Amino acid sequence: AMSSTLPAQQEKVIYDEAEIPNFTLPDPLVAEDGTKVESAQAWNEKQRPYLMGLFEREVYGKAPAAPEKISYKVIETSDEALDGTARRRQVAIQLTDDPDGPVLNVLIYLPNTDKPVPTFMTLNFYGNASIHDDPAIQLPESWLRNNKDKGVENHQATEKIRGSSKGRWPVEMILEKGYGLATAYYGDIDPDFDDDFQNGIHPYFYAEGQTRPKPDEWGSIAAWAWGLGRAMDYLEQNPEIASDKVVVMGHSRLGKTSLWAGATDPRFAAVISNNSGCGGAALSRRRFGESVQRINTSFPHWFNDNFTQYNHNEDACPVDQHELIALIAPRPCLVCSAEEDRWADPHGEFLSAKYASPVYRLLGVEGLAAEKMPAVDEPVLSRLGYVIRAGGHDVKPIDWQRYMEFADAHVLGK
Ligand code: GCU
Repeated sequence: AMSSTLPAQQEKVIYDEAEIPNFTLPDPLVAEDGTKVESAQAWNEKQRPYLMGLFEREVYGKAPAAPEKISYKVIETSDEALDGTARRRQVAIQLTDDPDGPVLNVLIYLPNTDKPVPTFMTLNFYGNASIHDDPAIQLPESWLRNNKDKGVENHQATEKIRGSSKGRWPVEMILEKGYGLATAYYGDIDPDFDDDFQNGIHPYFYAEGQTRPKPDEWGSIAAWAWGLGRAMDYLEQNPEIASDKVVVMGHSRLGKTSLWAGATDPRFAAVISNNSGCGGAALSRRRFGESVQRINTSFPHWFNDNFTQYNHNEDACPVDQHELIALIAPRPCLVCSAEEDRWADPHGEFLSAKYASPVYRLLGVEGLAAEKMPAVDEPVLSRLGYVIRAGGHDVKPIDWQRYMEFADAHVLGK
């Protein structure tokens, strides 16, 4: 993999609109041969597959097909969870055809109803037990990033992990509004550190003699997104879930992941990215906050090796991130920024949604209902939506309120 010789820490970070270099964005509605894409059919049959191929080849990497058969084990269930207000399901999904291979542990809370439940599917950073104090949640067994405050020591979960991230997971509020919540630990799919792709899911798919993904094959973000697809395989089997109303949501690196999951897996009915930034919703060509060079240096395992060609060279990339959002069209997509999270370039996230809008309109639905960056805490909840919240890089209950308002309108049609 090529990369710049300048250490990432010495890079000057652009935090001023006036310092953004001039750039021209690729037009999602111009085909490879320079002709204009003028119909939904031309988009669906040619342009979308073409752009999808470019993102696979140049950015996230191509992931393997789903395993042939869906295998899972229901580990635990209760119809009396959270003081009798909810149903809890814990399911271990086999990620490969190998019964001894890796499993993704999915925790599901559902409100008490006999109707199929529209559900948020969201990966988490510290294991399922971190999202709520509920003592029945299994502790994660996979490698975790050390964090004493969160209850991780020697890369293992301790009892202290329980509820340690609950501020980001207003489970009771979600259930009260009639939604379910399904979550899984991203490290069950691939531990989030650079080890040359020796652990996690990648080695299970190497061809004979292969020791790491090829330059156009999946990095970790594509692996996490692929894992979300395996969770969806299971959700489709569970009649308690309205599997045509599953909203994939993710924060930060997992917001990048939710966008790629939504682009690659049309079963997700809607997509929400929170503070996803560089390699997520933010336009790479702006180089505002985190740059392509910076992200590829700090996190060499997130994208594929081809993506390092665009370090300090964003204009050479045949795609930019507005086209990632266009790949989600015509499904609802909500891009969420935070005012103080300038590293993630809020304005660049807004512009991505704006410049994806022509594709939504070509497909016969509304695009982003704002021409200019909206004020802080004035959500634009059109089918392609954008919101900037006061405060920093985080997920807050008010964010969830907006996700649900958005889903009420565009997934439930309320
Ligand atoms: C770092 C990284 C971001 C990422 C974030 C996160 O800040 O530079 O790209 O989104 O971590 O995942 O919290």
